[in-house]
Amino acid sequence: MLSTNPFADLATVIPAFLMQYFVIAMVLLIIVGTGLDMLHKKNVIYFFRNAQKAKKSAKNELTTGKKTAVILKTVVHDIGTTSELGWGKRRLAHVLGMYGTILFWIGSAVLIFKYSDGTVAPSYIPIVWHLGAIMTCLGGYWFWFFLRVDVSAEAHPWYRIITADLFVLALLACATFGIAWSFTQSAGMSIISYIFFTLFIVSNIFLFGGVYWSKFAHMFYKPGAAIQKNLAEADGSRDNLPPPADAPKQFGLGIKREEPKHY
Ligand code: HEM
Repeated sequence: MLSTNPFADLATVIPAFLMQYFVIAMVLLIIVGTGLDMLHKKNVIYFFRNAQKAKKSAKNELTTGKKTAVILKTVVHDIGTTSELGWGKRRLAHVLGMYGTILFWIGSAVLIFKYSDGTVAPSYIPIVWHLGAIMTCLGGYWFWFFLRVDVSAEAHPWYRIITADLFVLALLACATFGIAWSFTQSAGMSIISYIFFTLFIVSNIFLFGGVYWSKFAHMFYKPGAAIQKNLAEADGSRDNLPPPADAPKQFGLGIKREEPKHY
């Protein structure tokens, strides 16, 4: 099943061009949702104003080479390994889900645009698609059941759902129904496979159509903020924040009372 291209079988029922239009529509939904979100929150205006203000208090002039080095290091380390989440389960779960989703999306685009017209896909591409979906499920369900702040730190039950959960739940629904559809289709269970396929499509519409209301756009904002933060560190402007105090850390005994997890 892992090496079977589910979109090739589907193409006998739904023409390949319709699947391609669907993917294009989803990309447009991301652009519109993120654009509206930026207009509503005015976060990008704030971001650029802040960056310009910080530039005025820069202590070192960064050469193009130095800037490129800072950006590359940020992309590989901070963004590529979600270093913001520190060492531990939270980061591991995020990295699993993030790379899983990237593989799943790239796999979907390649299979739909290149291999749904009867051309047989090399078996590693459907494997990448399935592996991506499985990794998304592993990282996502781990986060949902055990790591979410309201569950792990605030003792809310895992089944309590709020609007902010739209992103993670829609992402998990896409990956889960995608796997279930592919499995039932290759097992010849046609009616059940159509049900899972419908759920797969509906969850994609929720995921991409919900960008304005969900946390989807953090995958664009977070990298931008990480690059700006590291450039501000390198040019000495430090986002107009004071440098760390050159003094011993004294937090009092209270800090030893409990593991810090009320973030
Ligand atoms: C394909 C790309 C990405 C996917 C699929 C993804 C997925 C997710 C998901 C599902 C969550 C949990 C959302 C929630 O709180 O309900 C999350 C949270 C988070 N993401 Fe991402 N993300 C991506 C890219 C990034 C990038 C590039 C960064 C940073 C550079 C980042 C940093 C974070 C942080 C700091 C959190 C909060 C984690 C926590 O509360 O434990 N993400 N992400």
